[in-house]
Amino acid sequence: MLAGCTHAPAVELAERLNALTGGALGHAFYGSDGASAVEIALKMSYHYWRNKGVAGKKEFVCLRGGYHGETLGALSVTDVALFRHVYDPLLLHPHLVMSPDSRAARDTETSEDVASRALREVHALFEARHLDIAAIIIEPLVQCAAGMAMHDAAYLRGLRALCDRFDVHLIADEIAVGCGRTGTFFAFEQATLPDAPAIWPDFLCLSKGITGGYLPLSIVLSRNAIFDAFLDDDISRGFLHSHSYTGNALACRAALAVLDRFEETNVLRKNQLVGLTLTKALAELAADHRIESFRQRGMIWAFDVRDEFAGPRFAERFHMQGRQHGLLIRPIGRTVYLLPPYVLNSELAHWLAERTLETVNDTLSQLDDHRHAAGSAVTLP
Ligand SMILES: Cc1ncc(COP(=O)(O)O)c(C=O)c1O
Repeated sequence: MLAGCTHAPAVELAERLNALTGGALGHAFYGSDGASAVEIALKMSYHYWRNKGVAGKKEFVCLRGGYHGETLGALSVTDVALFRHVYDPLLLHPHLVMSPDSRAARDTETSEDVASRALREVHALFEARHLDIAAIIIEPLVQCAAGMAMHDAAYLRGLRALCDRFDVHLIADEIAVGCGRTGTFFAFEQATLPDAPAIWPDFLCLSKGITGGYLPLSIVLSRNAIFDAFLDDDISRGFLHSHSYTGNALACRAALAVLDRFEETNVLRKNQLVGLTLTKALAELAADHRIESFRQRGMIWAFDVRDEFAGPRFAERFHMQGRQHGLLIRPIGRTVYLLPPYVLNSELAHWLAERTLETVNDTLSQLDDHRHAAGSAVTLP
């Protein structure tokens, strides 16, 4: 662990990430996995307000269906019953607000309208309780564990404005959606309108893709003003938080190699091109009457199999069928999603689309057979 020391890869990594935020997020705190990054952001937000003399700000806000990890703090701001229910008596109870999931659009509503509706709920909550609220935590653009629930970037802009107005920290959990996954290096970049000043969260959590999956590392980037609130000779004002592998040198070096690769081979541009190929190759599936809400954001594709076709144990059946086709796909409920690695090329994109369609066909015809068999079993005496 760093324990007050540092080393070249940790410094270089912090500096390069800072540069990628245009200097907005000038400090990096290291952890070893996603959940520890979320713990760090939550603790640091509360401690910041305490150092500023507003210790009353100790509540958190999170989104319905959000997922932020499974340690106690991270699980507290996670709204997935499967992971939460046993430990609920041990957890903090944050405020839950509506997800801006575009699929929640009613009648003629656009995804921007859904974002506005979700923001009105946050507004009402902040108006009533902002003196008690330290931070709101979100997964920008795509709530992954909620079933690749995608939302309009207007939500991020609106939330930034509300957080500024009511003095609430905005924590962007980019553990899954960072490092190019949504098409920009940071998902939050898409909140900024062309020709407008860049907007950023107060904390940004990264993990997973930052080392290309080779070594465990997580990072919490934060604003200089947050760092400054901890810089004091009084130890109780310091941020005392460490893990055995905080700032592990080899992991930081792996992250630097990933950043090199992004620069040298223009990964974002290459992904954009191969992404178009995959979207085109998936067109037949997108138009299939058994499928709804086909959606894409950067290198994430998802669609829902209509309820009437999905049937019992759909996710498990699809997963097993996929393996027979050489695919490793793990649906969430009736949502099938693709998060291909960035080695994807045009040939693999076609292969992936074909195999996915075959897997859908095989799984749904198996379910159909199952339904018919169940139907005849009922009619037989
Ligand atoms: C958005 C998000 N936050 C936090 C986590 C937790 O990360 P870890 O599993 O490394 O603790 C994950 C993991 O899937 C995630 O997707």
